[in-house]
Amino acid sequence: MTTIAVLGNGRVGGNLATALTRAGHEVTVADRTPGAPPDAARTARIVINATPGAGSLDRLTALRDELSGKILVDVSNATTDGLPADLIYPGSSLAEQLQDALPETRVVKTLNTMLFPVMTAPATLTQAPTAFLSGDDPQAKQTAGELLTDLGWHKEWITDLGGIQTARATEAAILFVPHVIRSTGFAPFAISIAR
Ligand SMILES: NC(=O)c1ccc[n+]([C@@H]2O[C@H](COP(=O)([O-])OP(=O)(O)OC[C@H]3O[C@@H](n4cnc5c(N)ncnc54)[C@H](OP(=O)(O)O)[C@@H]3O)[C@@H](O)[C@H]2O)c1
Repeated sequence: MTTIAVLGNGRVGGNLATALTRAGHEVTVADRTPGAPPDAARTARIVINATPGAGSLDRLTALRDELSGKILVDVSNATTDGLPADLIYPGSSLAEQLQDALPETRVVKTLNTMLFPVMTAPATLTQAPTAFLSGDDPQAKQTAGELLTDLGWHKEWITDLGGIQTARATEAAILFVPHVIRSTGFAPFAISIAR
């Protein structure tokens, strides 16, 4: 059992919080109510960022003290408004910006390359999906991987891409999303590596 704070109570945050609670973790969900994000982050071992990516850097930098010593699992995507959207951090990534701004926090990027229902029900797709991990701290990535296992991810579906800089690859995959939805609708899908 791990204490987890989920920042953001939308489609992603609500879905993850429900599934992680069901898996036996002690989960606090923080919406934008003043005081809720710092309170939740302060008492958790792992903090999940499921808030809009565009404001995430400012929002999480404001929680520097509460996030110190914690694992920050970032599942957000930072794009401009519009379809197709553009990356807010071309040549970099939100995850790298977060790691730079929060040196006392271990940032792990994952689950940002799929529609939200797949995050907690990967086995429901007709083909094995991939969950990518990016982060500089091997132990933090191992802990994030264990959470993925709790969410139903088989070990062989999880691919550790390397350091936090590899998140710029997975964050760029967001550029697929509007085109895939336009061509095949909202049926859950994940960006995966096929061999
Ligand atoms: N939807 C997907 O399939 C999917 C897949 C992969 C990654 N993502 C990423 O996951 C993140 C969340 O996506 P979503 O679809 O769940 O969006 P969403 O349904 O719009 O939920 C975002 C949530 O964040 C909350 N929020 C906004 N500012 C906040 C703050 N300052 N503190 C705490 N909470 C705040 C919003 O509150 P209000 O309701 O009050 O605005 C809302 O509950 C985004 O970065 C997105 O790119 C989404």
